[in-house]
Amino acid sequence: MKIHIITIFPESFTSYLDSSIIWKAREKWLLNISLYKLNDFSDKKFKHVDDKAFGTHGQVISPEPLSKAINHIFDKVCKKIPVIYMTPSWKLLNQKKVETFSKKLDEFIIICGHYEWIDQRIIDLYVDYEISIWKYVLTSWELANMIFIDSIARFIPEVLWNPLSLEEESFSKKLNGKKEFPHYTRPRNFEWLEVPKVLLNWNHKEIDNWKKNNLK
Ligand SMILES: C[S@@+](CC[C@H](N)C(=O)[O-])C[C@H]1O[C@@H](n2cnc3c(N)ncnc32)[C@H](O)[C@@H]1O
Repeated sequence: MKIHIITIFPESFTSYLDSSIIWKAREKWLLNISLYKLNDFSDKKFKHVDDKAFGTHGQVISPEPLSKAINHIFDKVCKKIPVIYMTPSWKLLNQKKVETFSKKLDEFIIICGHYEWIDQRIIDLYVDYEISIWKYVLTSWELANMIFIDSIARFIPEVLWNPLSLEEESFSKKLNGKKEFPHYTRPRNFEWLEVPKVLLNWNHKEIDNWKKNNLK
């Protein structure tokens, strides 16, 4: 999977992209991420990319640098690829959509805005999917995008070292769309709480029954 991210703050992605499972996926070239600093596409003297909003308060990202950045990527990859814009809206993301996106999106662009919003004409002209992570408002475009990337990247074959993790996890078919059962490790007693006895006896049938009865 190849993801092109346009942002004013590429640095806000780096610690996340350089850690843990996502880093391993990048190292193995299962996930290829390119960051583009939006200001590099500004023709303005001080490389700013915003202007005053018409008819309301605040600043808005101007259409020109965004359009230039998007077309730069189209030219670089020699084709038009889907463009995604994360928005707090009713187009809510869920596990089913995550799975569909992970299969459908092989290479795509993600736009991060800043200030109040991006100029609507960029959405009208270029954006294929507007996606909301849920019904609340974040300050950061980057954070919403990282959540989206993280949710779909784990479905890329071989990103998770144990493919069973995908089969048997919250919202999966195998668990009837329910939340996964609780997990325990050593010590057997912690404070006043014990590990359920059934998990200690390695009787797979009984354990499977316990798992089924402990889905939420
Ligand atoms: C402060 S919000 C902008 C809110 C906008 N003024 C409004 O009222 O809808 C900054 C940006 O973070 C991202 N964002 C915030 N909440 C989000 C959510 N629930 N889902 C997806 N993206 C979100 C969006 O890209 C959003 O434009």
